[in-house]
Amino acid sequence: MKILVVGGGGREHALCWKLAQSARKPQLFCAPGNGGTATLATNVPIAAEDISALLAFAKSESINLTVVGPEAPLCAGIVDLFAEAGLRIFGPTKAAAKIEGDKAHAKRLMREAGIPTAEARIFEPTVQEVAFEKYSKKGDGPRPKIETAYDMAYRYVVTREEGVVVKASGLAAGKGVFVHEEPGDALLTLERLMVKRELGEAGAKVVIEEILLGPEVSVLALVDGRNIYILESAADHKRLGEQDTGPNTGGMGAFSPSGLLTESDLEIIERDVFVPIIDAMRREDVIFKGVLYAGMIMTAAGPKVLEFNCRLGDPETQPLLMRLKSDLVDLIEATIDGRLDEVSLEWDRRASLCVVMASGGYPGPYEKNVPIEGLAAAGELVDVQVFHAGTAVGPGNEIVTSGGRVLGVTALGDDVHLARGRAYEAVRAISFKGAQVRGDIGMRVSNR
Ligand code: AMP
Ligand code: GLY
Repeated sequence: MKILVVGGGGREHALCWKLAQSARKPQLFCAPGNGGTATLATNVPIAAEDISALLAFAKSESINLTVVGPEAPLCAGIVDLFAEAGLRIFGPTKAAAKIEGDKAHAKRLMREAGIPTAEARIFEPTVQEVAFEKYSKKGDGPRPKIETAYDMAYRYVVTREEGVVVKASGLAAGKGVFVHEEPGDALLTLERLMVKRELGEAGAKVVIEEILLGPEVSVLALVDGRNIYILESAADHKRLGEQDTGPNTGGMGAFSPSGLLTESDLEIIERDVFVPIIDAMRREDVIFKGVLYAGMIMTAAGPKVLEFNCRLGDPETQPLLMRLKSDLVDLIEATIDGRLDEVSLEWDRRASLCVVMASGGYPGPYEKNVPIEGLAAAGELVDVQVFHAGTAVGPGNEIVTSGGRVLGVTALGDDVHLARGRAYEAVRAISFKGAQVRGDIGMRVSNR
């Protein structure tokens, strides 16, 4: 069996690692992959977003199954494209992936389905505004007085007394969410998104919502169109600095279980979040198949949904897959075939924790091609896996940095505290110039 994994981050290295353990003994390909996937799969130099080149490759290599990591190709319709060509692929269709690709759409669906979420307003270009942009030529004289989405959003924000969260509605690679404690500070964000279009079309439409307070948790589920299988809970640390300070990143570490949710909490989340959102999509003739991820805040008034993602989280996947005992190929096939009710998921009862080592300067600009030392020594530690994210194989076969998040050093332990100790032991064995590491991954749990 030939499997193609699409993506090149830590999540995709963890997917390759887990798929390689399958009883089906698959031959793996990873596009574009990284220095870690190169040890398990044949890296294919095609970008994850280049879905037509991926299709051509899958056809020419007779790939039996394609597993998609990131959201961009899903939102661009890779699943529809492969399915039309008769190829098996794991993930939601373009219409289903809109739950992540369009936050305004997700908000509407949540409202319709009565799912607990932050109070929000959606601001999108009005008919007059769209017509004006389309038909007017630059320098046509003074702009007619039409009220734009930006005007309305501006007026909404200046009347607010409490802080707000401004979100670009479209995909922005984790850079489209701005939390402003002072509503006045949000005005500049509105201008940057809606007028200057600093994030392109992703910011043409915005969602403005209340700030939710409480610990954050990631709840992921396999969904086969009919059945929902909630995975073990996980949590990630989004901020760059310790004690959750500094700018948002793709995630500086993650752990599972989250320690925040009991079995009965997960049952309630399944009933009040997953079932109604799947039903709401179905009412629009959209069948969701793949991984549905609810980012949630445990507020004093109960769990509320921040956002839905249409894929596995990164870095949550790294600890989750270290704990998963079942054969991942079987789970993926059962999801595609709509028979999740026939499989069982087995988990290692131990905890797992992933510490991200990032390049100096990340999430801003950073240097690349920095040599990484100590990978072999760290990899020899018991119950440790060093998942690569932004790494590449250098000219002398050495591993060098090539991205912002470089490694996800992941360990198992009898509890989160022990998993953390082991993960940091491995982190200490590894070094590269400028490495940034948070020292408090998983602390939220053991502090409780
Ligand atoms: P999102 O992409 O919507 O998950 O937002 C990215 C991050 O911004 C989340 O993981 C939260 O940490 C934060 N965030 C988003 N929405 C809110 C909100 N309504 N209140 C507080 N924090 C939020
Ligand atoms: N770790 C957050 C995400 O994957 O979106």
